[in-house]
Parts: sequence; C-alpha cells; structure tokens
Amino acid sequence: MNARVTRPIRIGLLGAGVVGEGILQVLSDHAGSIERRMGTAIEVRRVVARDSGKPRSPRCEGLLSFDPDDVLADPEIDVVVEVMGGLEPAGDYVRRAIEAGKSVVTANKALLAEHGHALIELSEERGVDLYFEAAVAGGIPVIRVLREALASDTVVALRGIVNGTSNYILSEMKERGLDFAEALSGAQAAGYAEADPTLDVGGGDATHKLAILAMLAFGAQLRPEDIPTEGISDVAALDIQMAARFGYVIKPLAVGAELPDGSLDLRVHPALVPDSSVLASISGALNVVVLEGKMLGPCLLSGYGAGALPTAMSVVSDIVDVGRNLVVGASGRVPQRAWRGEHLSKRAVAAPGRHVCRWYLRFSVLDRPGVLARIAGVLGAFDVSIEQMLQQGRGPDSDEPVHVVMLTHEAREVDVRHALREIEMLRGMVARARALRIES
Ligand SMILES: NC(=O)c1ccc[n+]([C@@H]2O[C@H](COP(=O)([O-])OP(=O)(O)OC[C@H]3O[C@@H](n4cnc5c(N)ncnc54)[C@H](OP(=O)(O)O)[C@@H]3O)[C@@H](O)[C@H]2O)c1
Repeated sequence: MNARVTRPIRIGLLGAGVVGEGILQVLSDHAGSIERRMGTAIEVRRVVARDSGKPRSPRCEGLLSFDPDDVLADPEIDVVVEVMGGLEPAGDYVRRAIEAGKSVVTANKALLAEHGHALIELSEERGVDLYFEAAVAGGIPVIRVLREALASDTVVALRGIVNGTSNYILSEMKERGLDFAEALSGAQAAGYAEADPTLDVGGGDATHKLAILAMLAFGAQLRPEDIPTEGISDVAALDIQMAARFGYVIKPLAVGAELPDGSLDLRVHPALVPDSSVLASISGALNVVVLEGKMLGPCLLSGYGAGALPTAMSVVSDIVDVGRNLVVGASGRVPQRAWRGEHLSKRAVAAPGRHVCRWYLRFSVLDRPGVLARIAGVLGAFDVSIEQMLQQGRGPDSDEPVHVVMLTHEAREVDVRHALREIEMLRGMVARARALRIES
C-alpha cells in the first residue's frame, strides 16, 4: 500500500502539441466534474516543449519549460504525461519518470509497441502505474474494455479500422473518385495526414496498435515487425470502383485471431468488406474495433481515433484513474497488460501464406484470344477457383489494355501468390496483377 495522497494530484506534461494543448483544455473545462469524480483536483505544474520560438496558447502561460528535468526531477510531481511522441527521447523520459517513482500516462503507440513490456515491468517493480488508453484508437476506450470489462471472457478475434488517415484517404478516393496521390495531398491539407505520412499509409501505425491490442486480447508478447503489414498506397481508384461493382468497399484493416494451434493470425492490410457491413460504414477519420468474445459475442466500439479533444479526453481519463489510485494509496490493482506478467507469453504469428480467404484479383491484359483461358488455367493449377469475373470493355484501340477482375472462392494465400507469379509471366499481361483479400 502506498501513502494516500490527500492534496491535488500534480502532473507534468512532456509535450505541448495537438494532444498536450487538448489536455490543458479538458483539464480546465472539466476541472469541477473531474474533482467530483476523483476526490481531489488535478494541478498542472509544468508543460515541457522543445521549440522556444513557437507561439503557444494562453493556457500554457506560466507553465512552459524547455528542460525536461523541470518535470522529471521535480519531487512534487506525481504523474508524468508523455505526449511528445517518437521512441527517443520519449522512452528515456518515461523510464526516468518511473525510476523516480512517478506514474506515467502516455499516448505513444510506437513506444508502447516497441518497449511496452519492459516499461510496464519497470513500473510494476517500482509500484507505480503506466496507463496508455489513448495509444490505440485515440478517444475510443478499447483498452479499458479489453483490460477490465472482458476480464472474464476469451477474445477469439478482433477486427478494426485503427488508422484514421488511411480510412480518410480511401473514403475520399471512393466518394470523390480521386487517385491515391490526390487523396493523400487532400488529407494533408485538411490536417488528417502528417507531412511524412509513411507510418500511416504504410500500415506501421496500425501495426503498432495491433501489437498492443494482441497483448491485451491474447496475452501475447510480440514485436510489431512480426506482424505482416501492407499499406494502402497500392490501392488504385480503379480497384475501388471495381470493388463497388461487386458490392464491396476497400478498408484499411487490422485483424487478429487466435488459431487452434495457439499461434496468432495477425495482419494489417487493405481488404474488401461487404458494403452492407459495419466496417464499410466507418468512413472518414472514424475508427472502429470489433471484438469477438466467446461469451459476449461481437462488441463494437467506434468513434474518433485521433484529434485533440477525443485523444486528450482519453489521456485525462487515464490521469483520473491514476489519481484515484493515488487517493486510495494503491497501484497495480489492474494489470496494465490485462494479464499478470507471468501469464504473458511469446506467441508465434502465423505465416501469411497459411491464411485462407476469398480474393479480389485484377489483371491488366491485352485483349487477345486465349489470354483469359491461360489466366484461369494457372489459377486452377494452384487450386484457386474463380467465383465471379468482370472485364472492363476495351476502347476503339485494340492495343489498349483491358482490366479483368476475378473474385475467387476461398484459397490459401501461398497458392494465390504462386499463381500470380506465373500469371505475370504469361504473354498478354501488361502490368503487375493486383491482389486484395476479401474479409467476410
Ligand atoms: N494527434 C492525435 O490525434 C493523436 C492521437 C492519438 C495519439 N497521439 C499520440 O500523442 C503523441 C503526441 O501527438 P501530437 O499530435 O500532440 O504531436 P505534436 O502536435 O507533434 O506535439 C508534440 C509535442 O511534443 C514536443 N516535443 C517533441 N519532441 C520533444 C523533445 N525532444 N523535447 C521536448 N518536447 C518535445 C513538441 O514541442 P514543440 O511544440 O516545441 O514542437 C510538441 O509540443 C504522439 O505519441 C502521438 O502518436 C496523437
């Protein structure tokens, strides 16, 4: 049992950007109701940023510092709130805060996915809390649901759209007929995409979040690089139109499930989902996570996965949780990884080749006799059978390639990949074949 804190909970913020400013707003707008819920107030002692030349909001007045030690070495600060982002120096600061006996709240998914286990173990050793609700799907309380509400269930599968930037880009491509590059620059102009969008559109950000979700849902210790990841930058406007003609929408998915042999099926990639499905209805910058509990059945959580106020609300709710623990002199009652440390285990991620699903295949071919028969022959030789097919009519120029789209019955990924490699070498093929999974 730690000593009970009876005075206001004192916090120091590392970071005064989008989320940091949002936290200051939530704390000031909701000060009264937070105090009534927590039993004491939250007092911001210091806000650390990097660039002394940047204009700041009046909320930062009298609080700003450019020296992290003003937070890390201040013995009066109870909770360090890390909203700087990046692996270092954020990781070093979080470690130092924990070692100094302070609890930490962070929104940093990259840090959690890469070093979460070590940091959480350190916090357990030191008897302090490390909360991170905003690190996955921003304002959606999915971590609390997995950690607390489903503590008596077994999560058998989860599916989500957890990167708002990719979802916004694919939604814009569909709604406005834009190609990927146009939709990306629109997203950047609207503030939905970073100047360097690689982590978002390349799938890395969703992979970080899936690694955290898999830890909570399946008790899995894994490295984000073990998760097969594909971004959305290869999705063409034509694929979106063709998918729509078959009744599907292309969405950036993160998928996880426990397989009978104990390995995990974890994947991040764009996929076709039926246009009548819940996943298809989540458009723009919204996020969704659908959890499948053995007892509960499906449970859907949807909302804003980013943005100053939804994310800041989530961070402040974590501060309130830590504050409640400090008020009663407790920590570590709820394991931060949902499982007691000794019950987490390193888990194998199933090789993507084993995955079985239906496929969307698009071929660009010269419209010559026999081309389609040759494609179908190779697919058949690899046990990939065609369920539906559509050929986009050719123009007056017979040398202009035509697009042939095939939806397959269920097939193993390894067989589809081998077939595509052979098909690409056939006479009459003019571009790389495009393959997207269909998520039922
Ligand atoms: N934005 C969202 O909607 C969202 C949603 C969920 C999670 N997150 C996570 O929240 C974290 C913060 O995101 P954000 O959007 O608020 O980022 P941001 O707007 O870029 O703000 C980052 C802040 O950290 C400060 N900072 C960066 N490096 C620093 C250093 N070495 N020393 C001191 N201060 C430093 C920056 O200082 P200056 O102001 O001086 O540049 C800035 O105030 C990230 O981990 C992000 O992944 C964000």
